[in-house]
This record gives sequence, structure tokens and C-alpha cells, in this order.
Amino acid sequence: MPDVLFEPLRFRNLTIKNRVLRSNISGRFDNYDGSGTQARINWETKFARGGVGAIVSSYVPVQLHGRIMPNYATIDCDERTPFWKKVGEAVHQYDCKYILQLSHGGRQRDIPGVEFPVGQSSTSKADPLHGFECKAMSEAEIKDTVNAFAEGARRAREAGLDGVELHGANGYLITQFLSSAINDRTDQYGGSLENRARFVIEIVQAIRKKVGDDFHLQMKISAVEHNNDLAFLKFEGAGNTIDDSVQVCQWLVKAGVDAIHVSSGSAFPHPKNPAGSDLPVDVLGQVYEQLASSGTHTLRNLLFFRGAVTGPVFKHLWLDAGVPADQIEGFNLPDARRIKQAVNVPVLCTGGFQTASVIRGAVTRGDCDGVTIARPLVANNDLVKQFQAGKDRPDKPCTYCNKCLVHVVEHPLGCYEESRFSSREEMLAQVMSVFSPPPFA
Ligand SMILES: Cc1cc2nc3c(=O)[nH]c(=O)nc-3n(C[C@H](O)[C@H](O)[C@H](O)COP(=O)(O)O)c2cc1C
Ligand code: SF4
Repeated sequence: MPDVLFEPLRFRNLTIKNRVLRSNISGRFDNYDGSGTQARINWETKFARGGVGAIVSSYVPVQLHGRIMPNYATIDCDERTPFWKKVGEAVHQYDCKYILQLSHGGRQRDIPGVEFPVGQSSTSKADPLHGFECKAMSEAEIKDTVNAFAEGARRAREAGLDGVELHGANGYLITQFLSSAINDRTDQYGGSLENRARFVIEIVQAIRKKVGDDFHLQMKISAVEHNNDLAFLKFEGAGNTIDDSVQVCQWLVKAGVDAIHVSSGSAFPHPKNPAGSDLPVDVLGQVYEQLASSGTHTLRNLLFFRGAVTGPVFKHLWLDAGVPADQIEGFNLPDARRIKQAVNVPVLCTGGFQTASVIRGAVTRGDCDGVTIARPLVANNDLVKQFQAGKDRPDKPCTYCNKCLVHVVEHPLGCYEESRFSSREEMLAQVMSVFSPPPFA
């Protein structure tokens, strides 16, 4: 009997060879000005070689104002198109498709960069965790940003890429409009769910107008926002529910979206995304200094993370609001299933996947049509090839320790779980392998 895992996944405008996609995973591999580097090409190629059907790119800003960190390649101007063409060509060599994530951070940032210290958002309230300042966008600014998303899609198409994804999840700008907990506008972009969804619907319409109807367009959404799960955010609203998101997905599909990618959480990171078995608060205390000069709460947070008592308290609160370690794999499947039952386009689900039988079960039951994987593929770049060879779960699985997540603020992206390697040197060699081949080789 054919293995459902290796059956092609057919979207309206794109077919991929199997049911496993690399999920978005950002690293600071590029130049400060948003131009790309060979390291990013090397990074993406690792996963294409490892057998995934498609790669959904890291966070790619459509405007410099939408950056969350410097050193992420952007798609904000035509000069960036040739770089993305190179990335696409590199992964296509392995019969792997490439979907670029069109992104804007709004008020949620890590390191704002020198150009725009104040973010743009649906609101003028700073984000509650770091206190990054922001200003509610005017209607003219909204129009400009809608157009920037459409221009990004046009550039992705001109670069020969296979589709685009709207980063409508995890607390970034589109979430900031969609969210009942964040959006406090009183104009036509705030208030009712229909008004809060207006921004993203206008983006979809603008993209369709610019690139036509035959280019793959998907949307990543936080199906449930869990906005006040952390004990010290209890005073905030809970944010959008699954019923809200089902309705938004139906509107998105009607407007021209070809697939839904289901995530969770109104912020990034969030205790439930990426759900962890641990929070390496010691590493957090080291790398968070990069943020300490920007937000109004960041110096307080840094001292908190470094405190002998407060650090462990924060870790406890974070894990308490998270997902039990044995439930991380497939945690978002019930939400994916609800959305799949309500729309007539394929649904992708992210969150913890690294066992072939679990993925097979999810697709066979009709919870989703395919899964996207981030950390377990960082741990085992060749996970799909291992499945193909008959392994159900890798010998050295991802432990969901979230060290990769915390390190990425300052260090190259890679797996930092020493217990998975025979030595620290071997672990560091794996991390540094992204710089080979070197630029200009
Ligand atoms: C280091 C790191 C960077 C990430 N960057 C992005 C990103 O740029 N865009 C995005 O939508 N999700 C991002 N994610 C979330 C992942 O795509 C994924 O949805 C989440 O980690 C859950 O999947 P996993 O359990 O397979 O890691 C990132 C996750 C990690 C750990
Ligand atoms: S550091 Fe490695 S083991 Fe830990 S979550 Fe990241 S990829 Fe998984």
C-alpha cells in the first residue's frame, strides 16, 4: 500500500512531492542592510537535501520598518530579487519547492535596528513583554504596507519561487490587527472581527491583483491566541478563539488563499509556541542583553532572567503556561482539524512533529493534509530521508529544549543540545557547518 507520507500534496497552484514541509525558522545569517548571503543558501539547502517536499522560508520583511532583527534577508526592494532567485535555484536542485514568508513585525521585535526605533502597529500600546514602543498606523500607512506585501509577492514570483506565505501568526503585524486582545482601533480596521480582518483581506486582494490567480498563496495563522496564559499577563484579554479563526480562514479562502498553516499563540516566542520541555533561562540571561537597550521592560527582564531566584521563577511560570512535554508533538492538531472541516483548501499543521506514524495518523484521520517541522529538522536535517528508510523516529530526536530558539538572538542558528552530540566540539561543528561553502567560494 502506498505510504500517505510520500503521496504528493496538491494545492490549487502547487504540487509538492510529500507531506512534510520545513517550517519557517529564522537565523541571523544575512547582512545588516537586508541583502542575503551564501550562509542562508547553505542553510536552506541542508533541508532540501534532507528530503522535505517544500521549505517555507524564514521571516522575510516586506519593509525595513517590518524587521524584527537586522541580518534577516528582506524582500523590500527589487535589488533583493536576484538573491531569492539563487535560493530558489539551490533548493530546486533537490526537487524541493520554496515558499517565501512575507512578514512584518509591527510592534513585536527583538532588535529594532537603527532605522525605525518605533514600530508600527494596529495599536499604540507597547508589547507587554519587552515594552517595544509603537504607534498605531494611519490609514495611509496601512495602504502603504498592504502594497508592500503585494510587491513582495511580485518579487517572489519574479524570483522563480513557488509561492508565498503571509506571516499572519505568532503576534506579528497581521496578528496585531486580527487579535481581539491587541487591536484597540475604533476605525474600520478595529472593533468587530470583520473589521480586524480587513487588513489581511486587503493584503490578499492586493496580492491577487498583482500576481494573478495562479501563484500559490498560503496564510500562517495562530488559531488560538492564548494571549493571557502567562501568569503575569492575566490582566490582558485571551485573544482570538478557534471560532474566530475558523471564520477568518473562511474569509481568507474566499479572498484567494490556497492553504492555511496552523500555529498558535499571540506572541513569539510564547509558552505554547514553540512548546518546550525546558526554557534555558541561563542562556536567555546571556543573550538577552542584545535587547536590553530597546524596550522599556527589557532591562528589568534581563535582571530578572539573571537573578538566582527570579530566573528559575520565570522559567517555572513559562513552562507552567506551556504544553506538557509528552503532548508537544501534534499539539495544534485539534485546531487544524477544526479549520480543515470548515475550508476547502489544504491545511498544514506545525508543532513538534518528528514521528512518522504520528504524521501518518494525522493525515489519514484528516486532521491536516501535511505537517511543517522546524526544530526536529534542525536536530535531524535528514529526518524525511530517515522516514523513507523506514525509521519511525530518529535515534537522537529533538528534545524540545529550545536552546536553538534562545541562542538565535546572538549566535548562529543550529542545534545546541549538547546531549545529542558526542562532544561540545561536534555540536559546534554542526552549528558552524552553515558557513560552508563560504561566500565567494
Ligand atoms: C529558532 C526559531 C525560529 C523561528 N522562526 C520563525 C519564523 O521566522 N517564522 C515563523 O512563522 N515561525 C518561526 N518559528 C516557528 C516555527 O516555524 C514552528 O512553527 C514552531 O517552532 C513549532 O514547530 P516545531 O515544533 O517543529 O519547531 C521559529 C521557531 C524557532 C525555534
Ligand atoms: S536545540 Fe536541538 S534539541 Fe533543542 S529544541 Fe533546538 S533543535 Fe531541538
